[in-house]
Amino acid sequence: MKKILFANWKMNPTTEQEAVKLARAGDVKNAVLIPPFPFLNAVKNVLKSASVGAQDVFYEEKGAFTGEVSPQMLKKLGVQYVVVGHSERRRLGENDEMIAKKVKAGIHAGLKVILCVGEPLSVYKKGKKATEEFIKKQFRFIKDKKNLIVAYEPIWAVGTGKNADPEDVARVVQFIKNIASVPVLYGGSTNSKNAKSFLEKKEIAGLLVGGASINVKEFQKMIKIAERF
Ligand code: 13P
Repeated sequence: MKKILFANWKMNPTTEQEAVKLARAGDVKNAVLIPPFPFLNAVKNVLKSASVGAQDVFYEEKGAFTGEVSPQMLKKLGVQYVVVGHSERRRLGENDEMIAKKVKAGIHAGLKVILCVGEPLSVYKKGKKATEEFIKKQFRFIKDKKNLIVAYEPIWAVGTGKNADPEDVARVVQFIKNIASVPVLYGGSTNSKNAKSFLEKKEIAGLLVGGASINVKEFQKMIKIAERF
């Protein structure tokens, strides 16, 4: 299977015009573009080859949940993927129980769900066993595995420019595969310089790219690298 690049644009860019430009630049079969909610429709409409994903979803279908978006709304819009449990959302108070509800609701609505897991620096410093125990706990409420993808994103490597060792990543990814039996991505300061070192690991199904995915030149270089696998 070809390795896939998932482009998590986070809260970028600032205008629809820029979003459309980014979308055109990343429109290849092995890319999934994940813009902010207000740009989903415009991005989806210009894409010919890439797929589109959302950055979060709520677990109810409709009702009095101000500010939330349901999986059914995303599905009807033509969104194929949704990210759930990103560390930047966990930091705002999402817990494993809520995240499991989102995973379940997303899958039941027909979306492919990318569940983010990963340890903070304090746990990483304690060693391999501590990291594995931390990640195992993040799966304790997850029951649904169909259409589930996991992204291993060590929090200390997200947006920091700190590179995890590909060997260590491959080992944790294999640990996750043993728990969940699903494809596992890696994310955390990936760019055109280190993409190959992660993509060449057979355990890693693709990359969840943050900062480098909103830099057209950088992302296009990464696409070229990913196409070789
Ligand atoms: P960076 O690539 O900017 O470190 O972000 C990774 C990430 O959080 C993707 O979801």
